[in-house]
Amino acid sequence: MIKSTIKGVGFYVPDNVVTNDDLAELMTTNDEWITERTGIKERRHRKNRYDSQETSAYLGFKAAEKAIQNAGLTSKDIDYIVFATLSPDYYFPGCGVLLQDMLGCDTIGALDVRNQCSGFVYSMSVANAFIKSGTYKNILVVGAEVHSFGLDFSDEGRGVSVIFGDGAGAIVLSATEDENAGDILAMNMHSEGKYADDLCTQFPGSKFGWSDRMRKDPENVTNKEVYPIMNGNFVFKHAVTRFPETMMEALNKAGKKVEDLDMFIPHQANLRIAQFVQEKFGLPNEKVFNNIQKYGNTTAASIPIALSEAIEQGKIKRGDLVLLSAFGSGFTWGSVLFEY
Ligand code: COA
Repeated sequence: MIKSTIKGVGFYVPDNVVTNDDLAELMTTNDEWITERTGIKERRHRKNRYDSQETSAYLGFKAAEKAIQNAGLTSKDIDYIVFATLSPDYYFPGCGVLLQDMLGCDTIGALDVRNQCSGFVYSMSVANAFIKSGTYKNILVVGAEVHSFGLDFSDEGRGVSVIFGDGAGAIVLSATEDENAGDILAMNMHSEGKYADDLCTQFPGSKFGWSDRMRKDPENVTNKEVYPIMNGNFVFKHAVTRFPETMMEALNKAGKKVEDLDMFIPHQANLRIAQFVQEKFGLPNEKVFNNIQKYGNTTAASIPIALSEAIEQGKIKRGDLVLLSAFGSGFTWGSVLFEY
């Protein structure tokens, strides 16, 4: 039987640390408000907000290099790329092809996934299906975001812009028949598109006629139309309902119990959401990994960054049972349960 095993992990964040106090110089906010509501103390922003070098594809490339090296492979061994981002370098094409080029891979397939905060979970599910079907052997799964260029740092946007940060994480998911190797045991994905407007960026969507309006009527374009908008309370309420549902679905499918888990890594949306879920399941602190305090919400990158850091810090060991769960824009949500 073919197993999907995580052979290598890696992450990369820009050097530039932006603290809550730094943000307070740009807008009316303060460390106390941000810490209390979100748990975030700092995040990374690329040094120059208008930089065209440190892009999502580039951050993904840096994380991918580490994951490939960690797997003991070279880029020539990679036979497929799945790239999740909501902040692509180009409106089209996607970041997958840019990464293929940066890594110098052969003309392998490169798929882009547009599922925002759930992007990495969705991407892992796709990769797992390709591995289990015997189609590919070493799939690079990447989540990368550059949020800092596209946030509203005025008071109008403060409820959103304090949350998000830049970064990237990657894994190499490989096929193996080794009976001692880890495997993906269960996964699920969900969506509820009626809530698309509750967490979205309109620009440059075809629904809104953007390119033409930006050229011909820029004076009448509002902040809310070009920057991310979020119905924060509403998102919060849905997240704390959907997280437990998707977690239990994954555990039940694999015939596992909450007590069997060695580590739970929630998408790093908000520390209060993670703590709510942790409490609901009675999980001890050592079985939940959070790093939102340092990186903010890096959307599709948050789970692979957290997974890489947890492994690097020795908090996840080979053979451990790990659950990844995400919820976000779409709405979309889902989980991947695996043995490392
Ligand atoms: N600094 C200071 N005050 C701020 C602020 C900021 N950065 N952002 C908003 N406020 C103010 C609001 O203007 C509001 O003031 P008012 O009461 O005078 O109108 C007050 O704080 C409360 O705003 P509200 O939006 O109700 O706060 P909240 O408790 O819901 O917290 C979030 C806001 C965004 C932290 C919270 O809703 C959240 O985390 N939601 C989930 C978001 C999420 O996970 N998104 C990612 C999707 S995966």
